Amino acid sequence: MKPHVSDEYERSAEFVDVMLAAPWTVLAPTLAEALRGAPGPVVDVGAGGGHGTRVIARTLPAAEIHAVEPSPGLRAVLLARVNDDPGLRDRVTVLPGGLLQATLPPRLGTLVAMNVIGHFDPGGRRTIWRLLAERLLPGGRAVLNLQPPAEPVAVPQTRFSELRIGRRRYEGWGRAEPSGPDQITWHMTYRAFQDGEPAEEVEVEYAWWLLGPDRLKAELAGHGLHATPTGPTERGLWCITGSPG
Ligand SMILES: C[S@@+](CC[C@H](N)C(=O)[O-])C[C@H]1O[C@@H](n2cnc3c(N)ncnc32)[C@H](O)[C@@H]1O
Repeated sequence: MKPHVSDEYERSAEFVDVMLAAPWTVLAPTLAEALRGAPGPVVDVGAGGGHGTRVIARTLPAAEIHAVEPSPGLRAVLLARVNDDPGLRDRVTVLPGGLLQATLPPRLGTLVAMNVIGHFDPGGRRTIWRLLAERLLPGGRAVLNLQPPAEPVAVPQTRFSELRIGRRRYEGWGRAEPSGPDQITWHMTYRAFQDGEPAEEVEVEYAWWLLGPDRLKAELAGHGLHATPTGPTERGLWCITGSPG
């Protein structure tokens, strides 16, 4: 039986993976550097279509990878991407459901959570920190990124992606508004134009739990964990270990 997690990407999965390709060309070297020498097994939390899974596999060529992805649409992209590459097929296991429902190895070398931590409420984050404190191997680490804003402020409508595939041009737009003291709601619009004419439009929204560096450090301290920034500041990557880095 598959554990049920509501799929906030049900209608946008078609667009999300292709629109994440460009940001990943920038993120990939920073993640690779943060992972250099990290032990396996690796958990890729919310692997999406697998852009990050590929970076993990390239950087840690001997590690077994558990790619957890609850959205059936994105998981289909992920499974196909893994299946297409013999280097991935042998050592990447694609797991349905959410992280908190996944059956993971008893000890973890590395946990990667890229572009995903805002999907976890404070209770969910507590469970993740506890999992790291209890199951991270000596020398193990977690790598995640914190995405702005860290405060509940409105984010004006912004085009974050534009690409052309065949006769179609795709645009991804997003705006956010505060929906609680530590939450915003993202409103995303995905548009396709064919030969310059509007052809398709999909609107979705999802909640995003805010987390900034100070709160991250305070939450981790309660579990004996430490966070240090890694890579260029604007990428927002943090490395979490069991002892001061
Ligand atoms: C913005 S996408 C990022 C995908 C991928 N990490 C990347 O950067 O290309 C966020 C992902 O988190 C997944 N997600 C949402 N809630 C989750 C949960 N509870 N456990 C694991 N993944 C989750 C979504 O299905 C989605 O694939």
